[in-house]
Amino acid sequence: MTHATYQDVSSEGEQPLPPTVAVLLAAGKSTRMRSRLPKSLHPLCGLPVTAHVVRACREAGVERVIVVVGHEAERVRSGLIEAIPDGHLLEFAHQERPLGTGDAVRAAQSLLASWPHTVLVLAGDTPLLRPQTLRQLVETRVRTHVPAVMLTMELQNPTGYGRILRDEKGRVIGVVEERDATPEQRRCCECNSSIYAFDGSRLWEALAQLRPNNAQGEYYLTDVIGWFVQQGAPVETVALEDPKEALGINTRVELAQVAALLRARLLEDLMLSGVTVVDPMSTWIDVDVTVGQDSVIHPNTLLLRGTQVGEECVLGPFARIEGCRLGNRVQVYASWLVDSVLEDDVRVGPYAQVRPNSHLGAGVRIGNFVELKNATLGPRVQASHLSYLGDVEIGEGTNIGAGTITCNYDGYQKHRTRIGSRAFIGSHSTLVAPVEVGEGAFVAAGSVITANVPADALAIARSYQTVKEGWAADYRQRKANKGEQKNASK
Ligand code: UD1
Ligand code: CA
Repeated sequence: MTHATYQDVSSEGEQPLPPTVAVLLAAGKSTRMRSRLPKSLHPLCGLPVTAHVVRACREAGVERVIVVVGHEAERVRSGLIEAIPDGHLLEFAHQERPLGTGDAVRAAQSLLASWPHTVLVLAGDTPLLRPQTLRQLVETRVRTHVPAVMLTMELQNPTGYGRILRDEKGRVIGVVEERDATPEQRRCCECNSSIYAFDGSRLWEALAQLRPNNAQGEYYLTDVIGWFVQQGAPVETVALEDPKEALGINTRVELAQVAALLRARLLEDLMLSGVTVVDPMSTWIDVDVTVGQDSVIHPNTLLLRGTQVGEECVLGPFARIEGCRLGNRVQVYASWLVDSVLEDDVRVGPYAQVRPNSHLGAGVRIGNFVELKNATLGPRVQASHLSYLGDVEIGEGTNIGAGTITCNYDGYQKHRTRIGSRAFIGSHSTLVAPVEVGEGAFVAAGSVITANVPADALAIARSYQTVKEGWAADYRQRKANKGEQKNASK
C-alpha cells in the first residue's frame, strides 16, 4: 500500500499533471461563521477563502475547476469570478439542498459524466493546501489505478473528523464519521482530510448507491470508500506530513488561525529569499506580493493586493501599501499608499497619504501631512510638508512649499493643475485649477493663483504689506498715558 508523504515530491522540474478536474465543495451554509458573507468569500491574505483552494488546484496543473455552490450561490459565484485571475474559466455546479458531501459531488456529475480521468474532490474551506500535495494525490491514483486515493492526517485531537478504518493487515476498509463511530473507533487518530482523488470512470456509480443511513441523515461522500473496498477495489491513502495543511475554516477563530499560518508561510518565503522582516508577528503580506532582495520591513507594516517592491527598500514602521509598485531603494515611513507607482529612491512620510493613480518619479520626496491623489510628479520633486496635491502634474525638480493646496474641485467637477519643471511654489500657495505654472516660474508664498503663470515669471497674488515705522511704540505710549494695563509688552 502507498503511504507516502508530500515531502517525497520535489516541486521543481515537475512533469505535467495527468488530466485532472477538481470539484470544490462550497455549497454548505457555514452557519458557524455567523456571517452574512458566505464563508467562501471571507477575505484571507488578499483573496477569498475558496480562491486559495482554486489557486492551489491551478498551480498543481489541474485543467478544470468546478465549484459546487448552493447557499448564496450567485454571490459566491460572482465573488469568485471577480477575485480570481481568469475567473471566467471557473465552472459552477448547483446543489439544490445541502444533503451532504456525497450529494454535493453528485451535483457536478452532469459536467463530468464523460470524464474518464482523475476527479479531485476538495472542500472549499482548506486554504492552506499546497499544490504539491494535490499533485501527489493525482499521481498516486494514476500510478496505482485505484478508484480512490484519500488524503489523511494524524491528529492529536481528532474530534469532529471522520476516522479511517483499516483491517488487521492495515488495508483501508472505510471511513466512519465521528457521530457514527463507536468509542473504540473514536480512539483512532488517523483522520480524513476530505480531500480525495477519484477515478472519474468509477466515481458516479459509487455515488449513485449512497444512502443517508447515518446520524445526520446525509449522503456521505466518505461512504464511497467503503463501497469500493466491498466491490473488491482497494483504495489508497496519502498521509499529510503537516496536518495543518488540511485545516478547515468553520469559525472566525479558525479563520484567524489559518490566516496567521498563511502569513507566516508567506513571510518565511520572503525572508528565505533575502528580505529582512524585523517583526513577522506584526507584518502582513498578501499572496502575490513581491519584495526584492535586501529590502527591510519594519514592524506594523502591511503590503497588500499585488504590491511589488524592489530591492534595498525600507518600509515602515507603520506603512500600509496596497496595489503599489515600488522601485529600488524606496523608503516609506508610517504612511498609507494605494494603487500608485514610486520610482527608484523615492522617500515618503512619515504621515503621508498617496491615493490612487499617483506616479512619483525617481528621487521624489514626500514629507509629513502631504496628500497626493492622481498626481504625476517628475523626478526629484519635493513636497516636504502639509500639502494637498490632487489632479496635478509637476515637472522634475520642482519644489512645493509647505501648505501648498491644489484647489481641484469646484463643487461640480475636478480640474487639473500643471506645474512645469524646476518651478518654485512658495509656502501656503493656493493653486485654483484649471491653472498652469510654467517651467522655472516662481510663485510667491501665500499666493492665490487663479491665472496661468508663464515660464520663468514670478507671480505674487496676495495683498501687499504696509509697514508703519514706529507705530507699535506710539500705540503703547498712548495706552500707557490713559493708564490701561496690557500683558503683551513688558
Ligand atoms: C467532512 C468529512 C469528514 C472529514 C472532514 C474534514 C464527510 C461525510 N465527512 O466532514 O470525514 O474528516 O470533512 O474536514 O464528508 N458541503 C456541500 N454540500 C453539502 C455538505 C457539505 O457543499 O451538502 C461542503 C461544505 O460547504 C464544506 C465541505 O462540503 O466545504 C465539507 O462539509 P462539512 O459539513 O464541513 O463536512 P464535515 O462534517 O467537516
Ligand atoms: Ca468541515
